[in-house]
Amino acid sequence: MSAARTSKMTEEEKQILCIGLVCLDIINVVDKFPVEDTDTRCLSQRWQRGGNASNTCTVLSILGASCGFMGSLAPGRVSDFIYDDIRRYGIDVTNVIVHTESSFPASIIISNISNGLRTILHTNRNLPDVNSEDFRKIDLSLYKWIHWEGRNASEQVAMIQQVEQYNATVPAEHQITTSVEIEKTREELYQLFGHGDVVFVSKDVAKHFGFNSASEAVKGLYNRVKPGAYLICAWAEKGADAMGPDGVFHSNAFPPEKLVDTLGAGDTFNAAILFSLCNGKSIQESLTFGCQIAGRKCGIQGYDGIVR
Ligand code: ADP
Ligand code: FRU
Repeated sequence: MSAARTSKMTEEEKQILCIGLVCLDIINVVDKFPVEDTDTRCLSQRWQRGGNASNTCTVLSILGASCGFMGSLAPGRVSDFIYDDIRRYGIDVTNVIVHTESSFPASIIISNISNGLRTILHTNRNLPDVNSEDFRKIDLSLYKWIHWEGRNASEQVAMIQQVEQYNATVPAEHQITTSVEIEKTREELYQLFGHGDVVFVSKDVAKHFGFNSASEAVKGLYNRVKPGAYLICAWAEKGADAMGPDGVFHSNAFPPEKLVDTLGAGDTFNAAILFSLCNGKSIQESLTFGCQIAGRKCGIQGYDGIVR
Protein backbone atom coordinates (compact mmCIF):
# COMPACT_ATOMS: atom_id res chain seq x y z
CA MET A 1 0.00 0.00 0.00
CA SER A 2 1.41 3.42 -0.94
CA ALA A 3 2.26 6.11 1.61
CA ALA A 4 -0.38 8.38 0.06
CA ARG A 5 -2.99 5.68 0.55
CA THR A 6 -2.08 5.04 4.19
CA SER A 7 -1.96 8.70 5.13
CA LYS A 8 -5.53 9.10 3.85
CA MET A 9 -6.80 6.00 5.61
CA THR A 10 -9.65 6.73 7.99
CA GLU A 11 -9.94 4.94 11.32
CA GLU A 12 -12.88 2.92 9.89
CA GLU A 13 -10.74 1.67 6.99
CA LYS A 14 -7.96 0.47 9.25
CA GLN A 15 -7.73 -3.25 9.97
CA ILE A 16 -7.88 -5.43 13.03
CA LEU A 17 -4.74 -7.60 12.97
CA CYS A 18 -4.73 -11.00 14.73
CA ILE A 19 -1.39 -12.67 15.46
CA GLY A 20 -1.09 -16.36 16.29
CA LEU A 21 -1.69 -19.82 14.91
CA VAL A 22 -3.10 -21.05 11.65
CA CYS A 23 -3.35 -24.82 11.33
CA LEU A 24 -5.29 -27.53 9.55
CA ASP A 25 -8.26 -28.95 11.44
CA ILE A 26 -9.35 -32.39 10.27
CA ILE A 27 -12.78 -32.63 11.80
CA ASN A 28 -14.42 -36.01 12.36
CA VAL A 29 -18.10 -35.64 13.22
CA VAL A 30 -19.49 -38.51 15.31
CA ASP A 31 -22.67 -39.07 17.32
CA LYS A 32 -20.87 -41.03 20.01
CA PHE A 33 -17.32 -40.65 21.29
CA PRO A 34 -15.34 -43.69 20.10
CA VAL A 35 -14.05 -46.41 22.37
CA GLU A 36 -10.33 -47.10 22.15
CA ASP A 37 -9.27 -49.88 19.77
CA THR A 38 -12.54 -49.84 17.82
CA ASP A 39 -13.22 -48.97 14.17
CA THR A 40 -15.82 -46.21 13.85
CA ARG A 41 -17.47 -44.75 10.79
CA CYS A 42 -17.82 -40.93 11.12
CA LEU A 43 -21.02 -39.09 10.17
CA SER A 44 -18.82 -36.74 8.17
CA GLN A 45 -15.26 -35.60 7.88
CA ARG A 46 -13.93 -32.26 6.65
CA TRP A 47 -10.85 -30.08 6.43
CA GLN A 48 -11.21 -26.66 8.02
CA ARG A 49 -8.75 -23.81 8.55
CA GLY A 50 -8.07 -23.60 12.29
CA GLY A 51 -5.90 -21.97 14.92
CA ASN A 52 -7.22 -19.40 17.40
CA ALA A 53 -6.02 -16.23 15.66
CA SER A 54 -7.03 -17.57 12.25
CA ASN A 55 -10.51 -18.53 13.52
CA THR A 56 -10.90 -15.11 15.11
CA CYS A 57 -10.10 -13.56 11.70
CA THR A 58 -12.71 -15.78 10.04
CA VAL A 59 -15.40 -14.55 12.41
CA LEU A 60 -14.28 -10.92 12.19
CA SER A 61 -14.52 -11.14 8.44
CA ILE A 62 -18.00 -12.76 8.58
CA LEU A 63 -19.12 -9.98 10.93
CA GLY A 64 -17.93 -7.46 8.32
CA ALA A 65 -14.67 -6.20 9.84
CA SER A 66 -11.62 -5.52 7.74
CA CYS A 67 -8.93 -7.75 9.21
CA GLY A 68 -5.52 -9.26 8.68
CA PHE A 69 -3.81 -12.41 9.91
CA MET A 70 -0.15 -12.51 10.94
CA GLY A 71 1.35 -15.93 11.57
CA SER A 72 3.67 -18.58 10.17
CA LEU A 73 3.00 -21.06 7.37
CA ALA A 74 4.88 -24.02 5.96
CA PRO A 75 4.57 -24.37 2.16
CA GLY A 76 2.91 -27.34 0.47
CA ARG A 77 -0.53 -28.73 -0.32
CA VAL A 78 -1.96 -27.90 3.10
CA SER A 79 -0.74 -24.34 2.73
CA ASP A 80 -2.53 -24.07 -0.65
CA PHE A 81 -5.79 -25.14 1.02
CA ILE A 82 -5.24 -22.64 3.85
CA TYR A 83 -4.41 -19.75 1.50
CA ASP A 84 -7.46 -20.46 -0.69
CA ASP A 85 -9.71 -20.47 2.34
CA ILE A 86 -8.20 -17.41 3.99
CA ARG A 87 -8.60 -15.48 0.74
CA ARG A 88 -12.20 -16.67 0.41
CA TYR A 89 -12.93 -14.70 3.59
CA GLY A 90 -11.02 -11.63 2.34
CA ILE A 91 -8.56 -11.82 5.22
CA ASP A 92 -5.37 -9.87 4.51
CA VAL A 93 -2.29 -12.13 4.41
CA THR A 94 0.39 -9.52 3.77
CA ASN A 95 2.07 -10.36 7.09
CA VAL A 96 2.10 -14.14 6.79
CA ILE A 97 5.63 -15.55 7.06
CA VAL A 98 6.57 -18.69 5.14
CA HIS A 99 9.06 -21.15 6.66
CA THR A 100 10.19 -23.53 3.93
CA GLU A 101 11.93 -25.95 6.32
CA SER A 102 8.92 -26.50 8.61
CA SER A 103 5.88 -28.75 8.59
CA PHE A 104 2.32 -27.53 8.84
CA PRO A 105 0.63 -27.77 12.26
CA ALA A 106 -2.53 -29.86 12.29
CA SER A 107 -5.28 -31.00 14.63
CA ILE A 108 -7.36 -34.13 14.51
CA ILE A 109 -10.69 -33.21 16.00
CA ILE A 110 -13.47 -35.48 17.19
CA SER A 111 -16.65 -33.40 17.18
CA ASN A 112 -19.55 -35.07 18.95
CA ILE A 113 -22.90 -33.76 17.63
CA SER A 114 -24.79 -35.36 20.52
CA ASN A 115 -23.37 -32.86 23.01
CA GLY A 116 -21.35 -30.38 20.90
CA LEU A 117 -18.12 -31.34 22.67
CA ARG A 118 -14.87 -31.32 20.74
CA THR A 119 -11.73 -33.33 21.48
CA ILE A 120 -8.54 -31.96 19.94
CA LEU A 121 -5.28 -33.78 19.17
CA HIS A 122 -2.85 -31.11 18.02
CA THR A 123 0.65 -31.34 16.59
CA ASN A 124 3.11 -28.58 15.82
CA ARG A 125 6.55 -29.98 15.26
CA ASN A 126 8.77 -27.13 14.19
CA LEU A 127 6.93 -24.07 12.90
CA PRO A 128 8.43 -20.99 14.60
CA ASP A 129 6.06 -18.32 15.88
CA VAL A 130 6.17 -14.74 14.63
CA ASN A 131 8.79 -12.79 16.60
CA SER A 132 9.39 -9.15 17.45
CA GLU A 133 11.82 -8.74 14.53
CA ASP A 134 9.14 -9.92 12.06
CA PHE A 135 6.72 -7.54 13.73
CA ARG A 136 9.11 -4.58 13.44
CA LYS A 137 8.74 -4.78 9.64
CA ILE A 138 5.00 -4.12 9.55
CA ASP A 139 3.38 -0.74 8.94
CA LEU A 140 1.53 -0.04 12.18
CA SER A 141 -0.38 2.88 10.65
CA LEU A 142 -2.63 0.34 8.86
CA TYR A 143 -4.13 -1.02 12.09
CA LYS A 144 -6.61 0.20 14.67
CA TRP A 145 -6.49 -2.92 16.86
CA ILE A 146 -3.92 -5.70 17.25
CA HIS A 147 -4.81 -8.97 18.98
CA TRP A 148 -2.29 -11.59 20.14
CA GLU A 149 -3.13 -15.22 20.83
CA GLY A 150 -0.73 -15.93 23.71
CA ARG A 151 2.08 -18.18 22.42
CA ASN A 152 5.75 -17.01 22.54
CA ALA A 153 4.88 -14.55 25.29
CA SER A 154 8.23 -12.80 25.80
CA GLU A 155 8.41 -11.98 22.10
CA GLN A 156 4.78 -10.91 22.18
CA VAL A 157 5.45 -8.51 25.06
CA ALA A 158 8.24 -6.99 22.95
CA MET A 159 5.73 -6.55 20.08
CA ILE A 160 3.21 -4.86 22.37
CA GLN A 161 5.97 -2.53 23.57
CA GLN A 162 6.62 -1.57 19.93
CA VAL A 163 2.94 -0.64 19.65
CA GLU A 164 3.16 1.40 22.86
CA GLN A 165 6.14 3.29 21.44
CA TYR A 166 4.21 3.89 18.20
CA ASN A 167 1.14 5.06 20.15
CA ALA A 168 3.28 7.61 21.98
CA THR A 169 4.09 9.27 18.62
CA VAL A 170 0.54 9.64 17.25
CA PRO A 171 -2.57 11.54 18.39
CA ALA A 172 -5.03 9.63 20.59
CA GLU A 173 -7.49 9.01 17.74
CA HIS A 174 -4.80 7.17 15.71
CA GLN A 175 -3.57 4.99 18.54
CA ILE A 176 -3.79 1.20 18.28
CA THR A 177 -5.77 -0.75 20.89
CA THR A 178 -4.16 -4.03 21.96
CA SER A 179 -5.63 -7.29 23.23
CA VAL A 180 -4.15 -10.60 24.34
CA GLU A 181 -5.61 -14.05 24.88
CA ILE A 182 -4.27 -16.26 27.69
CA GLU A 183 -5.85 -19.62 26.92
CA LYS A 184 -3.31 -22.30 27.82
CA THR A 185 -2.10 -23.09 31.33
CA ARG A 186 1.55 -22.26 30.64
CA GLU A 187 3.57 -20.22 33.12
CA GLU A 188 5.27 -18.24 30.32
CA LEU A 189 1.91 -16.86 29.17
CA TYR A 190 1.02 -15.27 32.49
CA GLN A 191 3.32 -12.30 31.86
CA LEU A 192 0.77 -11.26 29.21
CA PHE A 193 -1.76 -10.32 31.92
CA GLY A 194 0.18 -7.07 32.42
CA HIS A 195 -0.10 -6.11 28.74
CA GLY A 196 -3.00 -5.39 26.44
CA ASP A 197 -5.90 -2.98 26.84
CA VAL A 198 -8.17 -6.02 26.76
CA VAL A 199 -7.09 -9.36 28.25
CA PHE A 200 -9.02 -12.58 27.56
CA VAL A 201 -8.41 -15.32 30.09
CA SER A 202 -9.81 -18.81 29.57
CA LYS A 203 -11.80 -20.96 31.96
CA ASP A 204 -8.88 -23.44 32.01
CA VAL A 205 -6.42 -20.77 33.16
CA ALA A 206 -8.95 -19.39 35.66
CA LYS A 207 -9.44 -22.88 37.11
CA HIS A 208 -5.67 -23.36 37.24
CA PHE A 209 -5.53 -20.26 39.48
CA GLY A 210 -8.23 -21.80 41.70
CA PHE A 211 -11.30 -19.86 40.52
CA ASN A 212 -14.63 -21.60 40.04
CA SER A 213 -16.50 -19.00 38.02
CA ALA A 214 -15.86 -16.21 35.53
CA SER A 215 -16.90 -13.64 38.11
CA GLU A 216 -14.42 -14.98 40.70
CA ALA A 217 -11.73 -15.12 38.01
CA VAL A 218 -12.02 -11.54 36.75
CA LYS A 219 -12.11 -10.19 40.31
CA GLY A 220 -9.25 -12.40 41.51
CA LEU A 221 -6.97 -11.80 38.51
CA TYR A 222 -7.70 -8.11 37.94
CA ASN A 223 -4.67 -7.02 39.99
CA ARG A 224 -2.48 -8.56 37.25
CA VAL A 225 -3.72 -6.36 34.37
CA LYS A 226 -2.44 -2.88 33.60
CA PRO A 227 -4.36 0.14 34.96
CA GLY A 228 -7.49 0.86 32.91
CA ALA A 229 -7.54 -2.52 31.13
CA TYR A 230 -10.52 -4.87 30.77
CA LEU A 231 -10.18 -8.49 31.83
CA ILE A 232 -12.68 -10.86 30.20
CA CYS A 233 -13.40 -14.49 31.04
CA ALA A 234 -15.79 -16.75 29.11
CA TRP A 235 -17.25 -19.77 30.88
CA ALA A 236 -19.02 -21.94 28.24
CA GLU A 237 -22.75 -22.37 29.05
CA LYS A 238 -22.43 -19.95 32.00
CA GLY A 239 -21.72 -17.01 29.63
CA ALA A 240 -18.94 -14.55 30.40
CA ASP A 241 -17.81 -11.84 32.82
CA ALA A 242 -15.61 -8.79 32.46
CA MET A 243 -13.98 -6.40 34.86
CA GLY A 244 -12.65 -2.93 34.11
CA PRO A 245 -12.09 0.41 35.80
CA ASP A 246 -15.87 0.95 35.73
CA GLY A 247 -16.83 -2.28 37.49
CA VAL A 248 -17.83 -5.89 36.86
CA PHE A 249 -20.10 -7.02 34.01
CA HIS A 250 -21.84 -10.27 33.14
CA SER A 251 -23.70 -11.80 30.22
CA ASN A 252 -25.56 -15.07 30.31
CA ALA A 253 -24.90 -17.51 27.48
CA PHE A 254 -27.30 -17.73 24.54
CA PRO A 255 -27.53 -21.49 24.04
CA PRO A 256 -28.58 -22.64 20.57
CA GLU A 257 -31.61 -24.89 20.14
CA LYS A 258 -29.22 -27.79 19.80
CA LEU A 259 -25.52 -27.79 20.67
CA VAL A 260 -23.68 -29.28 17.70
CA ASP A 261 -20.11 -27.96 17.59
CA THR A 262 -18.25 -25.93 20.23
CA LEU A 263 -14.92 -25.97 18.33
CA GLY A 264 -13.69 -22.37 18.18
CA ALA A 265 -16.49 -21.00 20.42
CA GLY A 266 -13.89 -19.03 22.38
CA ASP A 267 -12.25 -17.68 19.19
CA THR A 268 -15.70 -16.63 17.98
CA PHE A 269 -16.47 -14.96 21.31
CA ASN A 270 -13.16 -13.03 21.16
CA ALA A 271 -13.85 -11.90 17.57
CA ALA A 272 -17.34 -10.66 18.42
CA ILE A 273 -15.99 -8.72 21.41
CA LEU A 274 -13.25 -7.09 19.31
CA PHE A 275 -15.75 -6.26 16.59
CA SER A 276 -18.18 -4.70 19.03
CA LEU A 277 -15.61 -2.70 21.03
CA CYS A 278 -14.05 -1.49 17.77
CA ASN A 279 -17.46 -0.19 16.78
CA GLY A 280 -17.65 1.92 19.92
CA LYS A 281 -20.03 -0.32 21.88
CA SER A 282 -19.80 -0.53 25.67
CA ILE A 283 -18.20 -3.45 27.47
CA GLN A 284 -21.64 -4.71 28.59
CA GLU A 285 -23.02 -4.54 25.03
CA SER A 286 -19.88 -6.24 23.72
CA LEU A 287 -20.03 -9.03 26.30
CA THR A 288 -23.65 -9.73 25.39
CA PHE A 289 -22.84 -9.64 21.67
CA GLY A 290 -19.87 -11.98 22.23
CA CYS A 291 -22.12 -14.53 23.96
CA GLN A 292 -24.85 -14.19 21.31
CA ILE A 293 -22.50 -14.82 18.40
CA ALA A 294 -20.59 -17.59 20.22
CA GLY A 295 -23.92 -19.21 21.12
CA ARG A 296 -24.94 -19.24 17.45
CA LYS A 297 -21.61 -20.79 16.53
CA CYS A 298 -22.27 -23.65 18.94
CA GLY A 299 -25.47 -24.44 17.03
CA ILE A 300 -23.77 -24.91 13.64
CA GLN A 301 -20.80 -26.74 12.14
CA GLY A 302 -17.95 -24.32 11.38
CA TYR A 303 -18.44 -20.56 11.25
CA ASP A 304 -20.54 -19.76 8.16
CA GLY A 305 -24.03 -18.98 9.38
CA ILE A 306 -23.21 -17.16 12.62
CA VAL A 307 -24.75 -14.04 11.08
CA ARG A 308 -28.33 -14.62 10.01
P1 ADP B 1 -13.58 -22.29 24.29
O1 ADP B 1 -13.61 -23.52 25.16
O2 ADP B 1 -13.74 -22.55 22.83
O3 ADP B 1 -12.43 -21.38 24.59
P2 ADP B 1 -15.68 -21.20 25.99
O4 ADP B 1 -16.14 -22.48 26.54
O5 ADP B 1 -14.91 -20.33 26.90
O6 ADP B 1 -14.89 -21.43 24.62
O7 ADP B 1 -16.95 -20.41 25.45
C1 ADP B 1 -16.89 -19.16 24.82
C2 ADP B 1 -18.30 -18.63 24.72
O8 ADP B 1 -19.04 -19.49 23.85
C3 ADP B 1 -19.07 -18.62 26.03
O9 ADP B 1 -18.93 -17.40 26.72
C4 ADP B 1 -20.51 -18.81 25.55
O10 ADP B 1 -21.06 -17.56 25.21
C5 ADP B 1 -20.36 -19.65 24.29
N1 ADP B 1 -20.56 -21.08 24.63
C6 ADP B 1 -19.62 -22.04 24.73
N2 ADP B 1 -20.17 -23.22 25.06
C7 ADP B 1 -21.51 -23.00 25.17
C8 ADP B 1 -22.63 -23.81 25.49
N3 ADP B 1 -22.48 -25.10 25.81
N4 ADP B 1 -23.84 -23.23 25.50
C9 ADP B 1 -23.99 -21.93 25.20
N5 ADP B 1 -22.99 -21.10 24.89
C10 ADP B 1 -21.75 -21.62 24.88
C1 FRU C 1 -9.90 -23.92 18.30
C2 FRU C 1 -8.52 -24.18 17.75
C3 FRU C 1 -8.56 -25.14 16.58
C4 FRU C 1 -7.16 -25.70 16.60
C5 FRU C 1 -6.85 -25.77 18.08
C6 FRU C 1 -5.39 -25.48 18.38
O1 FRU C 1 -9.85 -22.95 19.32
O2 FRU C 1 -7.88 -23.00 17.36
O3 FRU C 1 -8.95 -24.56 15.36
O4 FRU C 1 -7.06 -26.95 16.03
O5 FRU C 1 -7.69 -24.82 18.71
O6 FRU C 1 -5.14 -25.58 19.77
